[in-house]
Amino acid sequence: MKNLKNKVAVITGGASGMGLAFAHRFAAAGMSVAIADIEEAALTTAVAELTAAGAEVFGGLCDVSDIDSFRRFAADADAALGPAQVLCLNAGVAGSGDMVDLTMADWNWLLGVNLWGVIHGLDIYLNGLVARNEGHVVVTASVAGHTSFPGLGPCSTSKHAVSTIAETLHNELSAAGSDVGVTSLCPGFVATGIFNSGRNRPEHLTDSLAELPSDEQLERQQMVQEWMAANAKDPAEVADLVHDAVLEQTFWVFTDPDHIESIEQRHEEIRHRRNPAQDQNIGLSLMD
Ligand SMILES: NC(=O)c1ccc[n+]([C@@H]2O[C@H](COP(=O)([O-])OP(=O)(O)OC[C@H]3O[C@@H](n4cnc5c(N)ncnc54)[C@H](O)[C@@H]3O)[C@@H](O)[C@H]2O)c1
Repeated sequence: MKNLKNKVAVITGGASGMGLAFAHRFAAAGMSVAIADIEEAALTTAVAELTAAGAEVFGGLCDVSDIDSFRRFAADADAALGPAQVLCLNAGVAGSGDMVDLTMADWNWLLGVNLWGVIHGLDIYLNGLVARNEGHVVVTASVAGHTSFPGLGPCSTSKHAVSTIAETLHNELSAAGSDVGVTSLCPGFVATGIFNSGRNRPEHLTDSLAELPSDEQLERQQMVQEWMAANAKDPAEVADLVHDAVLEQTFWVFTDPDHIESIEQRHEEIRHRRNPAQDQNIGLSLMD
């Protein structure tokens, strides 16, 4: 897109973390912003914060894993602000555990939000963007979409899937000569509430993992928080990268170089038909 002023950005998971930072960045560029989120209190605070910053904002409660909920949000946002030009399919959750311990509820929750949330967003918005031949789709993937670290099965599954959704969409739109752009955002570690994703886990998808954490788990969570505070990127910096990618039609956005080696290692293993050996990662194993 050449100009963002007076256009509309729709951002899922827009009430906190990276989504909220995108909303602030796009509002600062003169856009109206519609934020969808499942967390009511955070949504109320985010809308108040954006309004106070001078943004034209619509906030709607929405569960992206439920297409009817997402459709209701989209209709309300459209009525409030008009059709979307920038679509950030960003809502996501994280959880960890070895495959042998996972339950169907774990898989359904992770894939429902991270994968089906993106598919639902495209089902709702893509036809309109293509018909108007103007706009940009930002899919929040992850370095987990290019790696296969132990303990991150459902998360990596969802992120590999949305990576190829973004890439395929880019290739199809380019082949059709469309002016609609696509960005695959692949964050490393960003200082957000992602490691506290269980706060938004619906009751019907809760199981043994929802039991009170053990002392060991609490200690690890504390380590993660400390590690993130010291090492993770500021969401506002990621928002700048996304803003620029929309204007410059940049497809790949990696937030930091930290995990590129792991991705290259995987590509080398494939090239040379070596067995996978991604077991020595620094930070991701902290997510237990
Ligand atoms: N923070 C990181 O280090 C990191 C790394 C790689 C990828 N990501 C991805 O970034 C995206 C944004 O996450 P974040 O890091 O800002 O975390 P976050 O927890 O701060 O924000 C995620 C937002 O999504 C919302 N959400 C959760 N489930 C939802 C649902 N069913 N429907 C609608 N909204 C829902 C949450 O309420 C929250 O506001 C996610 O897709 C995540 O997988 C984050």
